[in-house]
Amino acid sequence: MDRETFRKYGYAIIDWIADYMDQIEGYPVLPRLEPGEISHRLPEKPPLESEGMEKILQDFNNIVLPGMTHWQHPSFFAYFPANSSEPSLLAEFLTAALGAQCMIWQTSPAATELEERVMDWLRQMLGLPEDFSGVIQDTASTSTLCALLCARERTTSFAINKVGFREGTRQDLVVYTSEEAHSSVEKGVKIAGFGKNNLCLIATGKDFSMIPEELEKAVLSDKEKGLAPCCVIATVGTTSSTAIDPLRPIGKICHRYGLWLHVDAAMAGTAAILPEMRHLLDGIEYADSFVFNPHKWMFTNFDCSAYFCKDPKALTGTFGILPEYLKTGIDLKVKNFRDWGIPLGRRFRALKLWFVIRYFGIRGLQEKIRTHLELAKEFESWIREDSRFELMAPRTINLVCFRYHPPGFAYGEEMLEQINKNLMERINQSGKMYFTHTKLKGKFALRICIGQTSTTREHVQKAWDTIKSEVTH
Ligand SMILES: Cc1ncc(COP(=O)(O)O)c(C=O)c1O
Repeated sequence: MDRETFRKYGYAIIDWIADYMDQIEGYPVLPRLEPGEISHRLPEKPPLESEGMEKILQDFNNIVLPGMTHWQHPSFFAYFPANSSEPSLLAEFLTAALGAQCMIWQTSPAATELEERVMDWLRQMLGLPEDFSGVIQDTASTSTLCALLCARERTTSFAINKVGFREGTRQDLVVYTSEEAHSSVEKGVKIAGFGKNNLCLIATGKDFSMIPEELEKAVLSDKEKGLAPCCVIATVGTTSSTAIDPLRPIGKICHRYGLWLHVDAAMAGTAAILPEMRHLLDGIEYADSFVFNPHKWMFTNFDCSAYFCKDPKALTGTFGILPEYLKTGIDLKVKNFRDWGIPLGRRFRALKLWFVIRYFGIRGLQEKIRTHLELAKEFESWIREDSRFELMAPRTINLVCFRYHPPGFAYGEEMLEQINKNLMERINQSGKMYFTHTKLKGKFALRICIGQTSTTREHVQKAWDTIKSEVTH
């Protein structure tokens, strides 16, 4: 592409993005489509000749855009957010333009050193212990897998790394997490070779957080059976209801029995930027590793997962490699992040974090997070005040779990589930907003998570009005 054409379409795309941001509320949050509709509109064979940008952009508008779920829509209340912001987008352009593969210090010294710096900024912003070192991973799933692999290797003195799973290496390592933990824990346990049968799910209390006494009982019982307790994964902000596992008592148990403690705070970690929310991480000093995703609730576009660990040697001991073709004269003097995670190749993700933190400043970030928390609190109060609805879990941060359940309703759980599912599907299909569901101790619950960059009180009020207008009495 010649420079002139590049400039022309570059400017046009920036204009397109700015217009998209201005007009995003005009799009249905969820596309109204049948499976296969988009692929039917895509040619089966790749083009032999150049098609030109005009045609490509036209097809982007006519084929791709109608098939998108608009995650940046201010009425997106589903799952957990994956919010973004203008400074983050602009940094992504630059990352793409530099096109650097930041596997080792030498392949982009600034990328490595900026990553070290912004991760330390994040550590300070969340009030994490001074001895935590940070590295950016792609997702929380990967971060948790890294923690599991490190736990496995530390417990076995790096034996499985050397000889694999064979006679003489431990096959009885147990991982503990709560019954409310994210599915990435089960996935990580399978991939890391613990085996799903060695994942012990600890009961949760009324607030859906792990009961530490149950954890200790399970550890002791497994030890008695001759098994080897290895790792505990505590969740700060569970996916279903943002329950907060109590880190301090869990951490003490881990300390007592020599277990690796990994803390998954995928979304909720961001809340700790607020001094008044630091209590969520009380006891974090017991953790061996900690993850939270700026790509969820910190205005940094997907993907960007912040992983912290107490002992980087556990990481480099687990993942370290040094083939001849990667050796440089300064390997002993610098950090080579290729040894801090699974892939060799690394994107320059630190740049967008640097832009975001600098552009908003800690104050700006705090203001936005605080607003989301206040809006969630207000939504919760509306549910409380309306006798036709009930709260399904305590609200800890920016998520409200609730359901429609009018007084005197006598048809049982199944019918309640059907009614609430229908209500959610009707509203989602209207395109006005998007929210999702879960089950809490077997009961169907609707979830409204408030964390989009441009969500205001008006959008939350509109969501509540929409829900109310869809219930029959
Ligand atoms: C608590 C928790 N942990 C982990 C994850 C996985 O995040 P990722 O998509 O970054 O792997 C999620 C996703 O929502 C989550 O809620």
